Amino acid sequence: MELSQNALKVLEARYLLRDEEGRVIETPEQMFARLARVVAATEAAYGGEVPLWERRFHELLGSLKFLPNSPAIMNAGKAEGQLAACFVLPVEDSMQSIFDTLKNAALILQSGGGTGFSFSQLRPKADPVRSTGGIASGPVSFMKIYNTATDVIKQGGARRGANMGILRVDHPDILEFIRVKRDAVELANFNISVAVTDAFMEALRTGGDYPLVNPRSHKTVGSIAAAEVFAEIVASAWSTGDPGLIFIDRINRANPTPLLGSFESTNPCGEQPLLPYEACVLGSLNLSRYALPPGLDWAALGRDVATAVRFLDDTIDANHYPLPAIEAMHKGNRKIGLGVMGWADLLILLGLPYNDPRSFALARQTMRFVRDRARAASVGLAEKRGVFPNFIGSIYDAEGMPRVRNATTTTIAPTGTLATIADCSSGIEPLFSLAYQRRVLEMEFTEINRHFLDSARKGGFYSERLMAQVLRRGTLAGIPGVPPDAVRLFQTALEIPVEGHLEMQAAFQEYTDNAVSKTVNLPESATEADVARTYLLAYEKGVKGVTVFRYGAKKGTLLRFEDID
Ligand code: CDP
Repeated sequence: MELSQNALKVLEARYLLRDEEGRVIETPEQMFARLARVVAATEAAYGGEVPLWERRFHELLGSLKFLPNSPAIMNAGKAEGQLAACFVLPVEDSMQSIFDTLKNAALILQSGGGTGFSFSQLRPKADPVRSTGGIASGPVSFMKIYNTATDVIKQGGARRGANMGILRVDHPDILEFIRVKRDAVELANFNISVAVTDAFMEALRTGGDYPLVNPRSHKTVGSIAAAEVFAEIVASAWSTGDPGLIFIDRINRANPTPLLGSFESTNPCGEQPLLPYEACVLGSLNLSRYALPPGLDWAALGRDVATAVRFLDDTIDANHYPLPAIEAMHKGNRKIGLGVMGWADLLILLGLPYNDPRSFALARQTMRFVRDRARAASVGLAEKRGVFPNFIGSIYDAEGMPRVRNATTTTIAPTGTLATIADCSSGIEPLFSLAYQRRVLEMEFTEINRHFLDSARKGGFYSERLMAQVLRRGTLAGIPGVPPDAVRLFQTALEIPVEGHLEMQAAFQEYTDNAVSKTVNLPESATEADVARTYLLAYEKGVKGVTVFRYGAKKGTLLRFEDID
């Protein structure tokens, strides 16, 4: 297997099985064999050929063309091996529900998964509490308890605990929620997002007020100028990156199973809306491995999409769920989320700049292809194994709709660690920098992006002096003597305008059942007006959610990308 040094380090630190004394007891090759074996074993229940699928899965994983979410790799074959990355749990307006869910979230965290919660049902601060004759402390205070609990529960020892906290924009405590993370020590284990409604966006557009509603009494308790709330959101996001926005009405319009309830929250990184107690297994194809200039190797990609869908569907059966309610929901809807990583690498291999209409068109073509093939594979599975059990009443239960095995098939994940294992760029993000400094065991290493090195050699503009400059600056911008085409091809995240980031996100979202993980990176000099423009444009472009991160902003919190050292 050809694994990079960084991949080996990450695998050794977090993924390879260990014995009771903590000694690593498998090689990466054996790790992929274990994963393929555990997942393919489920084929027997459907009359599938276990050895054939074990071999195909192993080949696909070992080639680093496809990887499932981290918990699957870490936990397959363990006694209570929990294989899904994403969960959402309900928080209802009672002590019983708040603390039952906290316990359940702890079990998910221990198993390596991350949980999203909507706190929108909780009565606001100072609302009466009948049972005690006292007053309520409000959603933010309970979020702090969840945060503290996350601190003390290690995610299976292998990952930092990740949570998503959501509050609807019409909750009376919305301003407190929006401001809470300005203090860098608060809610460090949470990403937070405001669930904004179409009514709010309309009030914002017309300069109007909108009502604040007490979720306990359903009574309107006041109204507030949309512009005032938006300005607070923007001010917080400018200084810390939080909160992001999720466009909750848009997300609910795409709900495949509306009879089972509506979405109130997503998973921790925002790419997967889920109903209460629902889970999802994600997987990502490494597009950098399908470059066939001037295009992609569509035949190979199509074959691998089908194998990956089968792998993810099998994973649902191979999973050991932390709660019966979650097992019932996941096996009822059988949601999987196949997506892509290595997108920026692919574009470089094809000589296409990230911020270019040809790249947006290729994004649409590629994701449309992945979605169509993934759905076709899901239909193929349904013919043998049946449609998902909650099919009746779903959006697929209609004339002309495909009879699918999975209520959703596509999601684009951040691939924070998977991309390191596969040695490719993360998700659909542009390169953040052409040079990286890594600290490994107290030693500093500097590395230059290998596609950039290749291209500089081939393009005849390689020189030691240029490399030294790139190492210092991370970008080609402003270095004299570099061919202008190369400067454009290697534009990094901070040089790409907001419009380019969002156009790419929108292109992928158009053909993705679930949502797309994307951070709009802004330079340190970006203003609050830039953040406001980003959030408004995101709504206009039709994406399901948006997050920004201004370089140098103080984010006292988990990042969307993990620190691998
Ligand atoms: O690359 P990797 O499989 O580690 O994860 P990712 O693609 O960066 O994140 C996918 C999902 O895994 C996130 O949206 C979270 O739901 C979950 N996750 C988590 O629970 N804890 C983390 N530390 C990182 C991710």
